[in-house]
Amino acid sequence: MKLIYLLLLLVTCYTDGLNILGIYPYQGKSHFFVFRVYLRELAKRGHNVTIISHFPEQDPPANYHDISLAGTIKITEDNQSVRNSYWSVFSAAFYLAISGKENCQVMLANKQVQELIKSKQKFDVVVVEQFNSDCALGVAYKLGAPAIGMSSHTLMPYHYKRLGIPYNPSYVPFHFLEGGTKPSLFHRVERLFFDFFFRTFYYFVSQRSDQNTLAEYFDDIPPLEELARNMKFHLLYHNFILTGSRLFPSNVIEVGGYHVSNANPLTSDLKKFVDEAEHGIIFISFGSVIKSSTMTTDKVEAILEVMKRMPQRFIWKWEDKSLIVDKNKLYVSHWLPQVDILGHPKTLAFLSHAGMGGITEAIHFGVPVVAMPFLGDQPANAADVEESGLGIQLQFRDLTTESLLNAFQTVLNTTFREKVKKVSKAWHDRPMPPLETAIYWTEFVARNPDLNFRTAAADTPLYQYILLDVIAVLLTPLIIIFVALKRTRKSSAPIVKKTNGKKKSKKT
Ligand SMILES: *[C@@H]1O[C@H](CO)[C@@H](O)[C@H](O)[C@H]1NC(C)=O
Ligand SMILES: *[C@@H]1O[C@H](CO)[C@@H](O)[C@H](O)[C@H]1NC(C)=O
Ligand SMILES: *[C@@H]1O[C@H](CO)[C@@H](O)[C@H](O)[C@H]1NC(C)=O
Repeated sequence: MKLIYLLLLLVTCYTDGLNILGIYPYQGKSHFFVFRVYLRELAKRGHNVTIISHFPEQDPPANYHDISLAGTIKITEDNQSVRNSYWSVFSAAFYLAISGKENCQVMLANKQVQELIKSKQKFDVVVVEQFNSDCALGVAYKLGAPAIGMSSHTLMPYHYKRLGIPYNPSYVPFHFLEGGTKPSLFHRVERLFFDFFFRTFYYFVSQRSDQNTLAEYFDDIPPLEELARNMKFHLLYHNFILTGSRLFPSNVIEVGGYHVSNANPLTSDLKKFVDEAEHGIIFISFGSVIKSSTMTTDKVEAILEVMKRMPQRFIWKWEDKSLIVDKNKLYVSHWLPQVDILGHPKTLAFLSHAGMGGITEAIHFGVPVVAMPFLGDQPANAADVEESGLGIQLQFRDLTTESLLNAFQTVLNTTFREKVKKVSKAWHDRPMPPLETAIYWTEFVARNPDLNFRTAAADTPLYQYILLDVIAVLLTPLIIIFVALKRTRKSSAPIVKKTNGKKKSKKT
């Protein structure tokens, strides 16, 4: 009986199981740890999943096959100074270009990747990360499989055009900058400039470099932007409850939230620290990329002073051991179980850098956020936090004892906390859980590989998209009439006689 059941299971696995390739050449830990949840779930459902990444599983589930790039590039972790300036916005473009180029070179040089491409293994779907490079699309092309894009954050500036999504700085938040959906005139000018800069830099530096790297191995790769437009779907780590209503075509699917697991009970000394917190806990973390301990002393002191003045206990992700703290007031560690802390009923507020992962976990558990953005998409996420009602923003440049104290008092207010609970309730109120949604559309592409659902906006030439030709057609008769009128006016009185005279003299 058991054997029959097992056989049945095997049969269903092999008839329904798809061959899926995931390509994640970027070494960002916070990115991959979102995708990993989706990839493991695909394998769990009987799909045969092959993954190119820097993060091979120690103990892979059945059907989960790693092609490991580990060890070729240093993993991005705790390696950004605390800083928020124009320079960090410009340097983001350079970082994206340099890392994207390296990611492409490392991946294509990998023997196992080369063998995979040579083997012409048949894949039903190839899923590629959409971040700093389109190199993976070249691999998907060589394997002749339909591609899906996915990301663990909001869209990059250069992703709008390929998906046919309107980017209008007047109301669309800009990935790297403040201002949210209600930017000031200054913000809009800033956005227009940086949008142009990031897109130009991407097309002429990053994409061109990847195209050249691919050309070293294959001689038939179409322009990468064309392959990008041919992606079937984009699984975007958004949900409108947090990121607001946006204008997305039907093939851009919001799947935000699937990486958050249930909170486990805390253990050992952290459990004791939290259990004994009479007035609750405030959690501080600036994520896995920024090194908190590079913060200047005055800012650190401002935060420590706030802790002294508040009745709550604090937990702070901090990387070195030099911080002298009152052990009854502050728990410091370089690694903390973030989900378990945020999911703990005693956690009252979260001071966060507003990475998409962290704020997604906060909205999941209904923990109010004080968002203090530094780089990347964080300024845009922080605006989302405030606009959604999940929390408020405090810019790092404005960080003082008073401002932080005010910020905490605002989000600890009962009225505010009730609103956050309502937002969190709406976040969970969906027709399908986000992981289910992500998997559904992945399987959909495998079931319907020949169809494409991109909006015509992605294919319309710019001059048509902004109606230049129509404007020209409408203006032409007006211009002709205007010119004609001007001529006749000029030629009234003496000149008329002259020309008349000339014509007459010609006739005669
Ligand atoms: C599953 O994927 C692995 C690794 O890519 C491959 O070697 C194997 O042939 C695949 N199995 C099936 C049944 O396609
Ligand atoms: C980041 O890593 C580089 C190279 O390992 C090192 O020189 C630099 O000091 C690090 N930066 C920070 C802020 O830790
Ligand atoms: C909490 O906020 C509400 C509404 O903004 C306000 O009326 C109330 O006074 C605040 N409560 C405290 C204790 O600050």
